[in-house]
Amino acid sequence: MSGSRRLAALVLCAGAGTRMKSARAKVLHPVLGQPLASYPVGCALALGAAPVVAVVGHQGEAVKAALTGCFPQAPLGFATQAEQKGTGHAVSMAEPALVGFSGDVLILYGDVPLLRRETLEALRRVHAESQGPLSLVGFRPADPTGYGRLVEHQGRLARIVEHRDATPEERELGLCNAGIYLADAGFLWEALRGLRSDNAQGELYLTDIAAAAANAGAAVGVVEATPEEVAGVNDRRELAQAARVLQGRINRAHMAAGVSLLDPGSAWIDAAVRLGEDCELGPNVQLRGATALGRGVVVGAGCVVTDSTLGDGTVLQPYSVLEGAALGARTTIGPFARLRPGTELADEVHLGNFVETKKARIGKGSKAGHLSYLGDATVGAGCNIGAGTITCNYDGVNKHRTALGDGVFIGSDTQLVAPVAVGDGAYVGAGTTVTADVPADALAISRAPQKNVPGWAKKKRALQGSAKS
Ligand code: UD1
Ligand code: CA
Repeated sequence: MSGSRRLAALVLCAGAGTRMKSARAKVLHPVLGQPLASYPVGCALALGAAPVVAVVGHQGEAVKAALTGCFPQAPLGFATQAEQKGTGHAVSMAEPALVGFSGDVLILYGDVPLLRRETLEALRRVHAESQGPLSLVGFRPADPTGYGRLVEHQGRLARIVEHRDATPEERELGLCNAGIYLADAGFLWEALRGLRSDNAQGELYLTDIAAAAANAGAAVGVVEATPEEVAGVNDRRELAQAARVLQGRINRAHMAAGVSLLDPGSAWIDAAVRLGEDCELGPNVQLRGATALGRGVVVGAGCVVTDSTLGDGTVLQPYSVLEGAALGARTTIGPFARLRPGTELADEVHLGNFVETKKARIGKGSKAGHLSYLGDATVGAGCNIGAGTITCNYDGVNKHRTALGDGVFIGSDTQLVAPVAVGDGAYVGAGTTVTADVPADALAISRAPQKNVPGWAKKKRALQGSAKS
């Protein structure tokens, strides 16, 4: 069998995962921003498997939708296992989805997220060398209780025995079955038809295909993996452990590619995030979803950035929260800024502390340094927006837009009552409530004239003093 044999994959995702104690199916629980099952599916796709068929059952429609969402263009297929009657039964449910396929079928579990592509490549090599119809992955856990044991006879794999079906001597065997197989399709479907459920769990065991191969005189190739990489996730503790391992892999890869992490143990960077060279991330930073940072972006401590793009040289000061925002180059944001979906900043925009934006397009070099809300707004280039400026975008029923031209100066504590427009180069005096459009180069001011009452405060204090005595 050559390495050029066609490859398909099955990913078993039908189980409920009762030990998760969750309303959500186990394989849908997110790890670094992606559902658990997306990791083995992604691994199979990276290996070139086509199709990759997920066998779904519990919350099957949701699992299908999640995987399709993760891999919209990929050759995914689905099969349904309505009742969980064992791993052998699960695989047999996928036969119709692979009708007409000839080649090798890779079988993975949807709850094993740490599996590495290198291990699967080794499995393919061993499979090609052994010339047999089946190869599989073994591992030596610290405590083998519960796992199937690989039983050898005269130096060759003879069968797999489940822990519950094993004799005390077989339970002494340290080499266990990881549940990862590579099987010739014709052999697989034939062997599955021969399975019987006369075992401790009354299930159709996929593991019995090993004995089927051995009894036919074939060699079964075995690749040994580390216990960590084949660990399944069964409860919340194992979910957190898996996330921690993936975090380490992701963070090391970014550091190798020229990103500085001030505290690698506390930075959580989702699997899909892209970072340019010379980025620098402070402690407790979270970069989530489809976030992408250009070169030399600095992200201060405690920032949470979701589905956002940040241009080269942008600086996020600590504790800024961004979601669905697109920032140009060299923008400076925060500390404590909140940029909500639809925020689009041109180069060199500055938004300071306690500034909130939503559906706001802000032109090159414009600044809002302090305490502002800019929602449903278009701001031109070179504008200065004073402290406490608020766009009043909501009239209780509808949202309206505010439009500022280029070079506009908005004085502090201005309310812009939308819909309203301020023309290029206009000034708005501090404390103004803008309710009508301001022409270009005009001054708008709506404050009541100031009146000083001489001695008023002194008299008041005197009155208070006499009232006390
Ligand atoms: C299985 C293996 C065991 C191996 C262990 C490694 C069998 C009979 N035993 O045991 O040798 O050491 O994995 O973890 O295969 N699933 C379905 N439908 C089913 C049953 C299972 O989709 O009807 C899925 C589960 O959701 C899970 C995976 O298959 O992702 C493994 O099932 P599980 O019941 O955990 O197998 P084990 O008993 O742990
Ligand atoms: Ca398991």
